[in-house]
Amino acid sequence: MSDRLGIPVRILGTGKYVPERVLSNFDLEKVVDTTDEWITTRTGIKERRISEGELTSDLAYKAGLEAIEDAGLKAEEIDMILVATNSPDTIFPGVAPKVQNLLGAVNAGACDIQAGCTGCVYALSMAFAGIGSGMWKNVLVIGAEVLSRIIDWSDRNTCVLFGDGAGAMVISAGKGGGCLFAAELRADGSKSDFIKLPAGLVERPASHETVDNREHFVQMKGNEVFKFVNKVLPSFLDEVCEKAQLSSEEIDWWIFHQANMRIIEGVLKRTKQPKEKAVINLDKYGNTSAASVFLAFHDAIKDGRIKKGDKVLITSFGAGMTYGAVIFSL
Ligand code: COA
Repeated sequence: MSDRLGIPVRILGTGKYVPERVLSNFDLEKVVDTTDEWITTRTGIKERRISEGELTSDLAYKAGLEAIEDAGLKAEEIDMILVATNSPDTIFPGVAPKVQNLLGAVNAGACDIQAGCTGCVYALSMAFAGIGSGMWKNVLVIGAEVLSRIIDWSDRNTCVLFGDGAGAMVISAGKGGGCLFAAELRADGSKSDFIKLPAGLVERPASHETVDNREHFVQMKGNEVFKFVNKVLPSFLDEVCEKAQLSSEEIDWWIFHQANMRIIEGVLKRTKQPKEKAVINLDKYGNTSAASVFLAFHDAIKDGRIKKGDKVLITSFGAGMTYGAVIFSL
């Protein structure tokens, strides 16, 4: 029996917004005890964007608006808005209802998806599922982060990695040639202490102690994350390709979560795929968490690399730990 999904879907449009301010590795040398050489060789990141007062909902709105215009739709035609984020303006209200209001998407439902950096793939999968079931027709999926507000700028283990940005896709029902082949989502909650923002909610309500301990900032066991991802991701991606009934060679574009160049190169080597098949922009934007794959997808569509008919794999991993992948054609 075939596991291939074969759901007809169309990617109608994409959008992107990054804040203007560029923070280079050299700038960071003045903030923490680090060097451009260390960051470049360990991660591949050269610079990242930092929001100066813009909220996650502002970034999400701008990327979402561009995607709707690119799709040639009116905001009223969107029936669901999913925003993947780990740095919402507030826990509630969510970012998505604010975006719904700013867009004037009067017929849309709207909610946030929080699944670490994998929120992008979770949101995409839910959009595809809602479309495949007939529940939704036009879904706006956004990944948006202003991580710079929840990063500890005195912690060199984390502050050099992340950046701010937003990317969006409009996914639609109908037979335009595109197809969802596979969507797989996984989690391993036994590793939930690898990446966390410990305080400010139910488990550790805000107190003088949590502030003094810097518990309102992202904490990460970077090396544990690195080892976990290198262990699970290659065989997981083999499995997803198998479900899609596609060989690695048949995938035209590999869009990885833009966290670390060494992780991307490791997977490409293991699957014997050339580096040219991977869309890379972590050098320019760093790890924009749930936004990263949307930024990469948008860039590669707009510069003409990804074309109609191409088969694309999007994969991510993040806090939870969570990981996932989707394979579709345009
Ligand atoms: N500049 C200079 N040195 C740094 C540094 C920085 N910014 N950050 C850490 N170091 C030091 C460490 O203190 C350590 O020093 P020590 O050996 O004296 O203790 C040394 O570099 C090696 O640290 P380690 O954590 O083992 O390095 P690494 O090769 O694993 O690289 C990461 C660190 C974070 C780049 C890497 O582990 C990684 O990318 N992990 C995945 C993280 C990730 O993707 N997170 C997001 C998931 S969504």
